[in-house]
Order: sequence, then structure tokens, then C-alpha cells
Amino acid sequence: MSTESPAQTATTMTERKDNKLWGGRFERAPDARFDAFQRSFAFDRRLMPYEIAVDRAWAKALEPIGIFTTAEVKRTLAALDKIEQRAQSDPAWVESFGADAEDVHHFVEKALVEELGPLGWKLHTGRSRNELVATDFRLFVIDAASQINRGLLALIHALLSQAKAKLGVPMAGMTHMQHAQPILLSHFLLAHAEAFGRDVTHLQTAATSADACPMGSGALAGNSFGIDRAAVARDLGFSKITANSLDAVSDRDFALDYLFALSGIATHLSRLAEDFVLFASQEFSYVILPDEYSTGSSLMPQKKNPDCWELIRGKTGRITGALVSLLTTLKGLPTSYQRDLQEDKEALFSAQDQVSDMLAVATGAIKTTGYRDDRLHAAASNPALLATEAADYLVRKGVPFRQAHDLVGKILKEAERQQKLWTELPLAELQKLSSAFGTDFAAVLSVDAALASKKVPGGTAVESVRAAIAELENRLPKEASAK
Ligand code: ARG
Repeated sequence: MSTESPAQTATTMTERKDNKLWGGRFERAPDARFDAFQRSFAFDRRLMPYEIAVDRAWAKALEPIGIFTTAEVKRTLAALDKIEQRAQSDPAWVESFGADAEDVHHFVEKALVEELGPLGWKLHTGRSRNELVATDFRLFVIDAASQINRGLLALIHALLSQAKAKLGVPMAGMTHMQHAQPILLSHFLLAHAEAFGRDVTHLQTAATSADACPMGSGALAGNSFGIDRAAVARDLGFSKITANSLDAVSDRDFALDYLFALSGIATHLSRLAEDFVLFASQEFSYVILPDEYSTGSSLMPQKKNPDCWELIRGKTGRITGALVSLLTTLKGLPTSYQRDLQEDKEALFSAQDQVSDMLAVATGAIKTTGYRDDRLHAAASNPALLATEAADYLVRKGVPFRQAHDLVGKILKEAERQQKLWTELPLAELQKLSSAFGTDFAAVLSVDAALASKKVPGGTAVESVRAAIAELENRLPKEASAK
């Protein structure tokens, strides 16, 4: 094969004064303000590694269809390597060379032309930025999801190791923020771990929806050079190609799925944060805030504030905002590529960075938080938490539950009238209300007994929680469990 293909003329572009990707049919330059307004290089430069990967795959795919010679593929690949290395090692070059780049696609093409001359203009044969941006963004989301997945697994493992270390410590379980029934602290920690476990599944869903390659869709109608779409997809690590060229350039569902997954993580982090902010308050005093993740007051010397949790809770608004932002951008768009779609990236990039930080900070805080076992024990020992145990006791003696509930209610009221703890009422007095009360009733009235009775799978008995820890560890992907 020759080194240069016969059609290597490039006459029109060499006559061009600017280096734009378009402009042949324009007479006047864009308004400067508008020009700055429409550029996306400032943020989509983040897609550069993916853009270059797609360029490599495309260059290779142009050879079997006769657009590139073997030598041209080689030269193009070498130039792409060089551009990639320079972009990584020389930020000043990216700044200066990219000053007039419209977007990342323009930047790489400009750099290719600089390296290769007119050969650099051939790579864009049969393709459009519309499919490029969709492909780059899908590849970004796949990598981003796996990065967040690692952060999520680290957090789950931190919760799991605290749950193991604290197994046996009771606390007052609450509903409506009112004392309800005794539970184990480990059970509470595992509740959070389970929620984050569902987020792992949501991330996988988003990565799966991003896993289809749009290349070969053209601007909207497909590719007229018979490009081997499956080969390009395979080369880029996609497991399949998109099914419809028009849909492929319109579709941002993968980004929505990903933002939904990030919003779910942020919402769960916010709930975890809220619990710890409360537990760190003087009223609860369940936890000792780690110095490493707290801040002080410039005015009040005694203060140690749970800022790590407050900021995690606060930042959640931005993540939900990113999801709503993209949903709103997409609403009302006609089918096909529209420039509105350029608005998909900034919110997602920012959500990515925020959630990544939020997970890292939450993991560090969970690992270093101390627990006041005395305070947790004291709260769990509130006799009111055992009222349900008394009703259950009566049920076991044959009293219908509704009646048992009512009886215990009356006992609590009587104790209140006598200004006593209800557990201090003598058996004889209880027996006046129901003959079902026997000498074995005393054994029911302990936190340990209450906990031990919840030995159903998913319950808060020590043995159930121990089994739940093992089951969750087993369910998690293996490679992160060492962390
Ligand atoms: N910067 C654009 C974006 O982010 C790339 C595609 C531009 N396509 C076009 N036909 N103007 O969506």
C-alpha cells in the first residue's frame, strides 16, 4: 500500500484562514460574545481521554473501508499518542492551544492537523460531533460509575466494620423520633449499609444503559462508508452498538440514570448525616465527633461542630439539582441532536466530583467516630421501650393482641398516675388488670430479652445481625472487601 491515499489533496481547507470545524458557507465571523457563549472546551476538555480513544478506534475502522491506508492509520495513531501525552503533561499548552477551540472535538482535530497537516482532516470522515459527544459521554459515565462504586464500597465496608466492632451495644430504636423499641447499634449501622448496597445496583444500571456505542450514527442518519460499527464498539470496550442512529444522537437516558444513581447516593448520605448530626448533639450524646472531621467556632471556645455531616447533607441539594437540571433540559426537545444537549455535561461533572468527595469524607468520619456506649445503653434502658414486649407476653398467654395492647396502655397510664416507672408496679397490681400475668413476666422485662426475641432474619437479635453482616459481606463484590 502507498503511504498517502490518492485523494490526499485538501485544497479547500488549506485556503481557509481560520481553523474552524465549519464556516465554508458563512460570510461573517460570529459575534465575540456569542462565540464565547457557545464554546464548551472549558468543561468538555474533561472528555479528552475518551475523545482520543474514540479517534483511535475510528482511525483503525477507516482502513478496511479504504479511507485510510495502513500508513495513515499508523501516523494518525502516533499523533494521537503524542497529543494525549502532551495534554496530560502540559496544561499550559492545553490552555494556549485550546484558547480558540470550540470544544474538545475541535481541539483534538486542530492538534491532529498541527501534527499531520491535511491528513489530520481525514479522520472526521463519515462522522459527526453529535455521535462523538454521545460516545465520549457514555465512556465517561461508565468510568465515573466505577469510581463512585469504589467509594461506595469503601463506605459500606467502614459501616460493616463498625457494626462488627460494636456488636451487642443496644440503642433506643425510634420512629417519628420517639423512643420505640430497643435495637442494636450494629443494626442501625447495617440499615445504612443496606441502603448504600442498593446504590451499588443503581450504579450498575446506569453503567449498563451507557454501554452501547453510538459511533456510526453520523449526525443523525447513519454512516455512508460502511464503517464496521461492531468493531469500533468492541475496540472501545462497549458490549453493543446503539440500535437507531436518530435515537443515538438524542439519547441522554444513560446520563439521567447516572444522575439518578448519584442522587440516590446523596440522599442516603444526607440521611446518614442527619442521624449523626442528631447523635452528636448534647441531647443525644451518642457519638464523639472525630477532631479530624469537625470544626470549631471562631467565637465559642467549647464548640465542636459536625460540619462534615452538615456539608454532606447540604451538598445533596446540588446533586438532586443536577438530575432535575438535565430532566428539564431534555423536556420538550425534538428528536435528534440539539445544541441544548451541550448543557448535559457541567451538572453531571460537578455531581460526580461532589459525590466522590462526599463518599470519601463520610467514610473517613464513620471510621473515626467514637460511640458513647453508656449513653446508648441508658437510652435503650428506658422502660417505655419494653411496652411492646409486655403486649407480646400477653399474646403468648392467649390474650388477643388488640386487648393486650389496650391492657398495657392502661398499665402505663396507671404508672404515670402513681408517678412510677411502669416496670416498678408489683405483679399483684398487674394481675388485677389481667390474670394472664405470671411470675415469668419479669424475665420479659429486659433490653436483652427484647433484643433476643427479634431473632427473625433481618431482625435486631445479635444472632440475626451477625448473620446479616456475613450475608452482606458475601453479597458485596469481592475486590473491595480488603479495603
Ligand atoms: N459541544 C457539543 C456538545 O457538547 C458537541 C456537539 C456539537 N455538535 C454540533 N453539531 N454543534 O454537545
